[in-house]
This record gives sequence, structure tokens and C-alpha cells, in this order.
Amino acid sequence: MRIVVTGGAGFIGSCFVRLALQNPSFNIINIDKLTYAGNLENLGTVGNDPRYQFIRADICELDDLRAIFDEAKPDAVVHFAAESHVDRSILSPQPVFDTNLRGTFNLLETMRARSVGRFIHVSTDEVYGSLEQPLEADERYPLQPSSPYSASKAASDLLALSYNKTYKLPVIVTRASNNYGPYQFPEKLIPLMIANALDDKPLPIYGDGLQIRDWLYVEDHCRAILGLLEKGRDGEIYNIAGNRSLPNKEVVERILHITRKPATLVRYVTDRPGHDRRYALSSRKLQQETGWAPQMHFEAGLAATIAWYGYNEEWVRNVRSGDYRLYYAQNYAGRELSSTIAS
Ligand code: NAD
Ligand code: TYD
Repeated sequence: MRIVVTGGAGFIGSCFVRLALQNPSFNIINIDKLTYAGNLENLGTVGNDPRYQFIRADICELDDLRAIFDEAKPDAVVHFAAESHVDRSILSPQPVFDTNLRGTFNLLETMRARSVGRFIHVSTDEVYGSLEQPLEADERYPLQPSSPYSASKAASDLLALSYNKTYKLPVIVTRASNNYGPYQFPEKLIPLMIANALDDKPLPIYGDGLQIRDWLYVEDHCRAILGLLEKGRDGEIYNIAGNRSLPNKEVVERILHITRKPATLVRYVTDRPGHDRRYALSSRKLQQETGWAPQMHFEAGLAATIAWYGYNEEWVRNVRSGDYRLYYAQNYAGRELSSTIAS
């Protein structure tokens, strides 16, 4: 099976590529623009695999996508590429709507004109907005996104599903809860707190820190998507939950405990505008239809993630400083499309 992966140099996409290549019948074509969040180092030695190809391209460039698809003739597309951070989307919404909406539209349009198999649109539980206790969102729960990021994801989910209804494109939408694990850019809660704690830097908790998130280990997320490639039903939405809800404050306390750093590093800072209080998700449908269940316990996953960041301080320094671009320039073995990619 030939699978086009978008955003395969990011946190979740790179995990998916590494896992997917363990199946000897899969060939992967990774399309990534390499924004601040995309880093070929995340893929390790995958670059040497003859069943893997990297193409640097921007999904906002429709002609580039058409050329890639004409050559690659994929059987499936797994679409991770996105501007994925809520805080950035609040500070600067434009790239969020460009990539998350226009980019998704371009992919759908490219696929509409070709007979490509399954399209998995990777989305988020944030589209359901904040839920009061004891509510839990299933796939029919109303969409109430709060941030420019979640609004762009909700809109692109609906666009993808409309291509199933209107053009019979074999679309599946997945909505996962907050991911954590190795190779996550240190801007999201868990990697930021780990990297800062290891460096004895302040840990900024927004508001009162009692906001609740459900935590999903990144490999569990990617296994769910692999299962859906095989067993998912077209036109359907599947939630993917880690089944581990915790207030942010408690996540930070656990990080301090494991890293043996003092609580004096914590700083309560001004809350994020429009901050969702609680996400809660049911992935009963996914479990019933594919047999998937999360395998990683949060305690073990957090300890493994902290150990990874401890061993990979150079990676953290590189991604924070943008130095991986040097690595990219020296080791680049793929192709580059479009003159519009910012250097
Ligand atoms: P990430 O920010 O780590 O990676 C995004 C990748 O997309 C990067 O490699 C980047 O270079 C690439 N990219 C960005 N704009 C592009 C463009 N215009 N053209 C081509 N490539 C582009 O993101 P992530 O955390 O790995 O998230 C992946 C997907 O999963 C996103 O769609 C996100 O909405 C979704 N998701 C993330 C989480 C989470 O907790 N991180 C949870 C649920 C869903
Ligand atoms: P984040 O990792 O940005 O993911 P999302 O906003 O998509 O859920 O944030 C997770 C939670 O942690 C969210 O409630 C905001 C909070 N948070 C902080 O308290 N401090 C921080 O520095 C960050 C990045 C997040």
C-alpha cells in the first residue's frame, strides 16, 4: 500500500511513519513543509529506508500537490499537517487558517480528481469545546470550538466529511485527545514543562491550573489510525481517547516529582484567552469497531517521555534554536517543491 502522509516530520506524523514502516507492505511518501514544528531528525534512520520518500512541499500549493499525487499514485492519505498549537493560533491565526483549512481543501480537491483510496483526516477533541462534568463527547456531540486552532480543525473536519457525502470520497475523521511522548515540540504543556524543569527554568501554569485534559500516548494514537486504515468505515468520525483525565496542575506536579525538581519553579501566569476548562472524550466506537484500546499507562508514558527528553537535550536545544535546519541542509535526501516555501 502506498500511503501519502502529510506532516510526517512533526510530532505525531513522525511516530506514525516510524510505526507504519514496520509493516513491510507499506510504502510512505512524506509531504512536509518543515515549519518550526517539522524536523527530519524526528524520523531517525527512516530516511534510509527504500520504502520511504520525503518531499518538502507546502499543502497550500495546489499545483504541487497535484504533481506529487500524479507521480505517487497513493492508495491512501493520512493527513497530519497542521498548525497545531492553540497559543500560536491566538497570537497569529492566519497561518492556522491557511494550512488547516486551505491545505485540507487542496488535499481534498487533489483527491477528488484522482481515484485515491482512503483519506484519514487527523483531528482533535478540541472541536467539541469545553465540557461540564460529567459529560463526555461521543462522535455526535455538537461542535463548539473555542480557539482559532479548534475552529479551523472543526471547519476542516466538516469540509472533509462533505467530500464524502457529495463526492463519495472515502474520508474518515479522527478526533484524538491531547498527545504526549518523545519528539513533541517543547511548546505544548508536557514537553515544555519537562524541558523547563530539566533546565531549572520557570514552569508557567495558566490561570488556576485546574483545567482538565485527557492524555493519550502518541504511539497509541498512531496505532488507532493504522487500525482505521484497515477497518474504519468511510464517512465516519472516530474519537481516540487516552482515558486518563488530569488537571494541568497535577501533570506539572508529577513532572516535578519524577525530575526531582522543586515546586518553586512553578509560576501561575495570566490565563489563556478563551481557555477551555475541560475536555472529555469517549472512544467506545473505535474500541467496538476495531478492537483498539490505549496500551500505555500515563505514569509509565510520562516517565518514558521524561527519560527521552533527558537523553535528548541536544534535540531540545536544536528545535528551540532552529538549528535542525542546518541538519536538514546537510542531510537532505528528498526533493523540494515550490519556491514559496519560506527558508
Ligand atoms: P506538529 O505541529 O508537531 O507537526 C505539524 C507538521 O505539519 C510539521 O512537521 C509541519 O512542518 C507540518 N506542516 C505545517 N504546515 C504545513 C504545510 N502548510 N504544508 C506541509 N506541512 C506542513 O503537530 P502534531 O502535534 O504532530 O499534530 C499532528 C496532527 O494531529 C494535527 O493535525 C493536529 O491538529 C492533530 N492533533 C494533535 C494533537 C496533539 O496533542 N498534538 C491532538 C489531537 C490531534
Ligand atoms: P497545550 O499543550 O497547549 O494543549 P491544548 O491547548 O491543545 O490542550 O495545553 C494543555 C493545557 O495546558 C491547556 O489547558 C493549557 C495549559 N498550559 C499551561 O498551563 N501552561 C503552558 O505553558 C502551556 C503550553 C499550556
